[in-house]
Parts: sequence; structure tokens; C-alpha cells
Amino acid sequence: MEAVVNVDLGGPRINRHLYGHFAEHLGRCIYGGFWVGEDSAIPHQGGIRLDVVEALRDLGIPNLRWPGGCFADEYHWRDGVGPRDQRPVMVNTHWGGVEENNHFGTHEFLALCELLGAEPYISGNVGSGSVREMSEWVEYLTRDGDSPMARLRKANGRDEPWRVRFWGLGNEAWGCGGNMTAEHYAQEARRFGTYSRDYGDNKLYKIAAGANGDDYHWTETLMKQLGHLGCQHIRSTGYHALSLHYYTLAGPWENKGSATAFDTAEYYTTMVAAARIEELIAGHAAVMDCYDPGRSVGLVLDEWGTWFDVEPGTNPGFLYQQNTLRDALVASVHFDVFHRYADRLVMANIAQTVNVLQAMILTDPETGALVLTPTYHVFRMNRGHQDATSLRVDFRDALPSRPVGEATLTTVSVSASRKDGRLLVSLSNLDASSPADVEIELRGGAVEAVDAEILTAGTLQDHNTPQAPSTVAPRPYDGVSVDGGRLRVRLPAHSFVTVSGAL
Ligand code: AHR
Repeated sequence: MEAVVNVDLGGPRINRHLYGHFAEHLGRCIYGGFWVGEDSAIPHQGGIRLDVVEALRDLGIPNLRWPGGCFADEYHWRDGVGPRDQRPVMVNTHWGGVEENNHFGTHEFLALCELLGAEPYISGNVGSGSVREMSEWVEYLTRDGDSPMARLRKANGRDEPWRVRFWGLGNEAWGCGGNMTAEHYAQEARRFGTYSRDYGDNKLYKIAAGANGDDYHWTETLMKQLGHLGCQHIRSTGYHALSLHYYTLAGPWENKGSATAFDTAEYYTTMVAAARIEELIAGHAAVMDCYDPGRSVGLVLDEWGTWFDVEPGTNPGFLYQQNTLRDALVASVHFDVFHRYADRLVMANIAQTVNVLQAMILTDPETGALVLTPTYHVFRMNRGHQDATSLRVDFRDALPSRPVGEATLTTVSVSASRKDGRLLVSLSNLDASSPADVEIELRGGAVEAVDAEILTAGTLQDHNTPQAPSTVAPRPYDGVSVDGGRLRVRLPAHSFVTVSGAL
């Protein structure tokens, strides 16, 4: 199959925030994942687990969304500041009904972001909170000088304000965030947005809680609300972006499928579900284009990834699942779509970073051992796309495909970018058993030599464990040849390959 990468045609910038993450007070994501507490024998800084931080720093994670998810709309930030032993305990009703001692709160989250070098993205409580509560949280975090909330922050040990641009106006307002209609929520988003103020040079980027999957009515309602305000008012009283949530399942919600015990048919069903992200982003972007042809309002996919049945024997409310080569390929095809729609999609956050759903890192609750998942490796291999120029990829022939039930799955996926004089091409072969050969014409450019890496494994079900941490790990790859302006890439069955070189 022959592809053309248009090296000299500038496309949109791939916002680094498309490689964002999400950490909710859910299961062992925060407690036992990021946070081990100051008395832990596991190396930590102020209670934050350092091996987790170090592994994530290698991904260059640009932002971290917190504290939820559904948890965000039951979270009251004042419970999570001040001396830890005086913080009230609450019940985490969404996730396992466990007690939440609030030991990881605002200061701990901001300390984590500083260690990661990531921008904080805070989801405010619209569902069960008040406008005043959210307004004061913004003031507490970002106001310089003297004010009631700035004084409280200082009393709690932090003199300087933090810089917090990204604020979510609630989460899943159509469901756990208040079961609202789109019309009602649009008004609420405006109200909460109005009183979330910019202090000094901290200009907020407010993200309205957007649609679930293909709910285009939700997106249209939020866009109409902005139209009514007029674009000039967006910055002061509205929102700058809308979110979208979409999860990849291997079956219906009541039978999502096992994370590791799946057959080839279920693998293909999962990949069809993953590939649907393109239809959804294109669909929501088209609705937004009607109201905002200049594309000043961003689309933020702040929850995406696989959602399977929990690992047998674990708390069903903790959403702990293993992560196989299949998950890696789900991630790689998502990124190809993100790169193609980088003119509208400004941020994406995989759910969730540690020990929950499609995680980067799994930690053993008994031994504390840390495992990097196959998905982690895709984020690392693709890191060079962050802030790069997306390059258009065209195909001279029809792409290979196969029927999956009533759908058709395209089994080769490619995206490309350039940054700082380097080309990066990402290629996925989703076929479970056949290799694919891709010849790429670099139109308008050439590379002399390339570095290539491959992520694959003996089976689709392969995954990493503390006993075998590198079963699925990237390796240098010699299945690429270069001939001036042409690359020839052999993609083994079920593989992900990255090729980079100086232009
Ligand atoms: O990521 C898990 C949950 O999925 C989030 O809390 C919620 O927003 C979504 O339904």
C-alpha cells in the first residue's frame, strides 16, 4: 500500500494537551497510586510516590485532570485543605462506597502537578456544589495579593498563587453530574462560568461538561448558548471549550468483556469501537463548525480509553483492569484521529493514569511493585507529536479492511507530524494475523536515516506484570528502509511502529 505524507504542507498544531491525563478519587488511582502518605516506606516526596512521578515525567504529561469524574460533583474542596488530621471524612458514593479521608486535597494535587511538570486541570463541582464554592476555589488557588481566600491559602502554607488555567464546569452533567437536560446545564455553565474569575494574569480556560458519545443535541445546545452571548462575551461569561466523553468497550455496558481473556472476534469488535472515535469527533466538530466556523471554541475529549470488566477478585467499584497489547492499539488509533482533527480538538485525557481503567501504570497493592502498561509505551513512543505540526497523510490505494459484524474495520492506521526539523510517523497494523507493507512517499521532503521502534507481542492478550514487566515493551526496529524521499515499512501483525528522522 502506498501513502503520501505531505511534509511541506503545514497542517494544524497538535496541541500537547492531546496527551493529557486524568486522575480521579476512584479505587487506587490517588490512594495507593499517586499518594502513599508521608509515613510510607515507598520512596516519596511529601507523600507523593516518586517512582510513579518519574515514569510519568518520561511521557512529558502536559496536564492532569482532577478530582473527577463523577467524584468531582460530590467534592467540596474546603474539606481537603488545612491540617490533614483535621480534615473531615466523607463517603465516596460513586466508587465503592469507601471512606475518603481527604488527605489528598488541593495542595497535594498542585504539588503533584509541580513534580510532574504538568498543568493542573480542575473539575469544579456544579452538581452538588455552589457557585460561591467554585468561585472561592478559583480565588484560593489563583489570587495574588490580599483577599479572604488568598489569606486562607497563605495560612495553609502557600504564599504564592498557583497558575491554574484549565477549569471544568462540572462533569457529565447529563448523568452523575446532576442528571440535567442540555438546556438546563447550558444555563448553569454560564452561571458558574460568570463567577469563576481571572485574577492577575491567570486567564481561565473554562470547559463546559459536554456530550456523551453521539449526543449531538448536547453539543448543539451548548454552542447555541455561546451564539446567544456573542463571541465577544465568551471570555468573560461563558466557556471556551466543550468536553466529550467516549469509552471503548468490547460489548454492551452490562457485559463489557474481560481485559485479558478475549478471543480474536472480540478483539476486532473492540477495535471497531475504538475506531468510532473518528466518527464522533468529526460529528461534534461539524456541529461546532455551524456556530463557530473560526474554530475558537475547543473540543476537549477529557475522558477516553478502554473500559472492561474489573479484574476478578477486585472491588467492582474500583475499575481496576489489566492492560494488553489490544489496549496499546486502541490508544495508537485514537492518537492518529487526534492528530487529524487537531484544528478543533485541543485537549484529550485518557482515563485514568494509575490503577484505573486504561492506565499507564499499575501498582501492586501488596508489594507496591510498579508496572508500565503497553498503553504507557504508546504515549512514550508518540511523545514527539506533542506541539508538532500535523501532516496530511493520503493513500494511493484502498486501505486494507475486514468486515466485523455489520461494520468494516480499516486495519492500517497512519499519522505524521514534523517538529524542529524532524519527521515522526506512527503506524498501526490492527490485523491480528497478517503483516502489512506500507510504502511512504515523503512529498516535499526527505530523510537520510531513520530511528524506528516497534511495540508488539506474541499474542494480543500479552500484558505486563511485576513478574514479567517487559512482555510488551518497545524495541528498536529494523523493518524500515529509507530511499531518499521514500520509506518502506513492514508492519508485523498486531503492531505499532514509530519512525523518525531528520528532514
Ligand atoms: O472514568 C470513570 C468515570 O467515567 C468518571 O468518573 C465519569 O465521568 C465517567 O462516567
